[in-house]
Amino acid sequence: MKRLLTGLQPSGNLHIGNYLGALKPFADMYSQYESFLMVVDYHALTSLKDSKLLSQNIASVVRDYVAAGIDPQKAVIFQQSQVQEHTELAWIFECLVTVPFLELSHAYKDKIAKGLEANAGLFNYPMLMAADILLYDTDVVPVGADQRQHIEYAREAAAKFNKAYGDTFKEPKEFIQEATAILPGTDGKKMSKSYGNTIPLFGTKDEIAKAVMSIVTDSAGGRPEHVYAIHSHFKDSASLEMLYDANQNNYKALKEALIQDIESVVAPMRERRSEITDDEVRAILREGSDKARAVASIKMATVRERIGVVL
Ligand code: ADP
Ligand code: TRP
Repeated sequence: MKRLLTGLQPSGNLHIGNYLGALKPFADMYSQYESFLMVVDYHALTSLKDSKLLSQNIASVVRDYVAAGIDPQKAVIFQQSQVQEHTELAWIFECLVTVPFLELSHAYKDKIAKGLEANAGLFNYPMLMAADILLYDTDVVPVGADQRQHIEYAREAAAKFNKAYGDTFKEPKEFIQEATAILPGTDGKKMSKSYGNTIPLFGTKDEIAKAVMSIVTDSAGGRPEHVYAIHSHFKDSASLEMLYDANQNNYKALKEALIQDIESVVAPMRERRSEITDDEVRAILREGSDKARAVASIKMATVRERIGVVL
């Protein structure tokens, strides 16, 4: 079986863009692979300094994975910080790549442009992500389109290490679902928690309704473009065309239909999510992190030998 690995940051509540671009593709494909699904808490530390919130969010990501239909018995769900090999290997990669190379990161530049603190962790972020992926001889990394460059960084880290120390790491491939590559938010820009334009995934029906009602519509053409773009992910295309043909210019009816269609996807997940206890979350993470560590420590033993720190 080929190996799949991916991660979600425990940095806040998920929106439907995260669901369509990340969580749903993971849930659809994970059982065809030997799957490792991480909660990347040390990545979140680059922007989140509230310790209470961080621990709440870590549990929340575990619930998100399970609510989306991922069976913790069939995938390794684990916490990045509980497998110390990740930060150890990141350091080794940081010693192989140059500052100008890391300066090419779009994600870094975007985050700085949005006003995030330029801490060294944020700058080195791609090398921690490379370690996450390469420790497990990962074949496939399902991610959103904005993560493509990070997978290139991982391949580059593998190539640099292999060149310096001999063949050790497998070069991974990204898996990006192009159709859902970028879901627009309520203002038509990419849906993102940092733009305040999201439709919450596990909000109450009222919260979802409020967000949908705020989707910006322009009156040209009878078909509200952003509503339609979001709706196309929640309805088959034949029913969608019928609905939009029958309700030209009736934005209110179309938005109400969208609320219903989102609700019918989300309600069962919301239900499942509410049933997961704190003890279950802890058990999932403990077992998963033990399994992940077993794999990562073997790889790291080889790495330590290759770089010459084992006497
Ligand atoms: P945000 O932009 O809200 O901060 P993240 O960067 O935390 O979201 O993204 C988490 C995951 O969700 C990533 O795999 C990312 O590609 C995906 N994702 C985020 N926003 C969208 C979107 N609008 N459409 C599709 N996928 C998205
Ligand atoms: N950078 C990814 C994001 O923000 C999260 C992530 C960290 C990740 N490590 C990973 C994704 C390893 C896939 C594989 O979405």
